[in-house]
Amino acid sequence: MDLRAVFRPEGGCTEGARKRRVSRRVSPIPQRKITVVGAGYVGMSVAQKCAEKNLAAEICLTDVLEGRAEGIALDLNQAAAIEGYTSRVVGTCEPGPTERSDLFIVTAGRPRKPGMSRSDLLEVNGRIVVEVADVIRERSPDAIVIVVTNPLDPMTGLMRARTGFPARRVCGMAGLLDASRFSWFIAEALRTSVKDVDAMVLGAHGDSMVPLPNACTVNGIALGELLDRPTIAALSDRTRHGGAEIVGLLKTGSAFYAPASSAVAMAASILNDERRLLPCSCLLNGQFGVEGIYTGVPAILGKMGVERIVELPLDTEARIQMQKTVGEIQKDMEALRDSGLS
Ligand code: LAC
Repeated sequence: MDLRAVFRPEGGCTEGARKRRVSRRVSPIPQRKITVVGAGYVGMSVAQKCAEKNLAAEICLTDVLEGRAEGIALDLNQAAAIEGYTSRVVGTCEPGPTERSDLFIVTAGRPRKPGMSRSDLLEVNGRIVVEVADVIRERSPDAIVIVVTNPLDPMTGLMRARTGFPARRVCGMAGLLDASRFSWFIAEALRTSVKDVDAMVLGAHGDSMVPLPNACTVNGIALGELLDRPTIAALSDRTRHGGAEIVGLLKTGSAFYAPASSAVAMAASILNDERRLLPCSCLLNGQFGVEGIYTGVPAILGKMGVERIVELPLDTEARIQMQKTVGEIQKDMEALRDSGLS
């Protein structure tokens, strides 16, 4: 295993890179700090959105590729005068500058290629998550962690197991992304503004996810009043494969704008104690009849992290789908254990 997959070891940067980093460290470490791990398309979009929302005084962006995070940070700082944000972005390839972060958004990992399922990334991304978890536990023991790396639910479970953090401080981004995709498809079908659409998706961030048409409304009107069943079934199906549709179009890499928007909305709800009710991957402790597994459920996100998991009644079909999706995640967790990662 390449232990340098995400961070270079302390002192691993060249002299020039170290000087540039040190010269930017003159101001005291600000109180509120977000670290975005991984400066691929998702990570750089997350850093940009965090800065544009002034979510933290310092946004630390890391990447193992020397110069990449630093270059993106410099670019984002040079946009500050125009955009008017005061967040300062620090780019680094070392773990040290992440120290004492309040919140981590972990995007590091390989993306899917066309034809791959998210589970195909289990082992390679599992190794990366283990390495990141160790850095978080050692250097930011009080942080809250939002995992974005795929396969999302097992990676979130692995992050929690490896950090040993309380479950409320480790959650995964996906339900909000899947629900946002569902909202968009519904708005398109109805030729209505997406602003009025409220959609809900539970379960794994994978083909077995559970879109809940019965919990969808358009400005308070039940979706079933507006669209026929076959249309709703087709939109649910497109939602299940929403990520793969984009992977197929892009050919290299996967979606990043909507995943970044979703992760940053979760971060804002936590850091600003907005207490939004958002679907995200949480550790279930009997809710929905599930025990000890991370999967997508509605949760209130506030300053403590996952403040409360909200149960909602499921019809028979949704209950069956929920059992199936949990079974898929369990299989991935077993594969992780077999490979010695969990
Ligand atoms: C997607 C990736 C983020 O669904 O899983 O686009």
